[in-house]
Amino acid sequence: MITDKYKVIETSDGSSSVFDSQFGENFHSTHGAIAESMHVFIQNGLKLINSNEIKILEIGFGTGLNCLLTILNKEESQNVIYHTLEKFPLNNEHISLLNYSKLLNITSELFQKISNAEWGIGCDIADKFHLKKINIDLLEFNSEELYDIIYFDAFSTNTQPELWTNEIFAKMFFNLKTNRILTTYSAKGDVKRALRNAGFEVFRIKGPIGKRHILRALKR
Ligand SMILES: C[S@@+](CC[C@H](N)C(=O)[O-])C[C@H]1O[C@@H](n2cnc3c(N)ncnc32)[C@H](O)[C@@H]1O
Repeated sequence: MITDKYKVIETSDGSSSVFDSQFGENFHSTHGAIAESMHVFIQNGLKLINSNEIKILEIGFGTGLNCLLTILNKEESQNVIYHTLEKFPLNNEHISLLNYSKLLNITSELFQKISNAEWGIGCDIADKFHLKKINIDLLEFNSEELYDIIYFDAFSTNTQPELWTNEIFAKMFFNLKTNRILTTYSAKGDVKRALRNAGFEVFRIKGPIGKRHILRALKR
């Protein structure tokens, strides 16, 4: 059943996003959901890691757009393991309204596979792509796994300041391999400081359309 919590909207590049009325925030930039995801997570995340085995942790699965774009943009030879955390999974009625497959000129099968993947159970959903969706609050996530990239895609610091703290970033630092990166759309001073306090080297990078900067955090 479609509830009032979520509303599917269209962003400036024509791609869908979701407005979450509980948090009063969109899942993506209104200047373009696909444009933003491609810039922040694919160009400034996936494409920077030149390795045949890549392990990714995403914070905030949301619609599954970052996951879809990762499959479509990884090198054919790359073996990707993708773990993604989400506290409030969307239901299928909202997901069925998203136009990503149409805009990306692919059949809907792949996005359906991502959406239908069972929570808590890892599965191969494309060639050399293993997905595990984890229904958990980031605050309660504790893992020994080591990742090559963290896509940090939580709601903003205004909405969820408890997810952008020294403690959370210390956890992210622990879960990253050395010389690997966390990428996020936020360029707030508080975020930069919290990342530095956790041990990261932080770089301000050019943002996607409609946004001056984003951040890249490197674990030396
Ligand atoms: C900016 S949206 C993520 C967009 C998503 N990556 C996509 O491509 O659609 C933030 C996501 O974080 C989720 N979220 C909110 N609080 C959370 C928490 N405490 N732990 C994990 N996920 C949370 C929201 O439900 C939402 O799906």
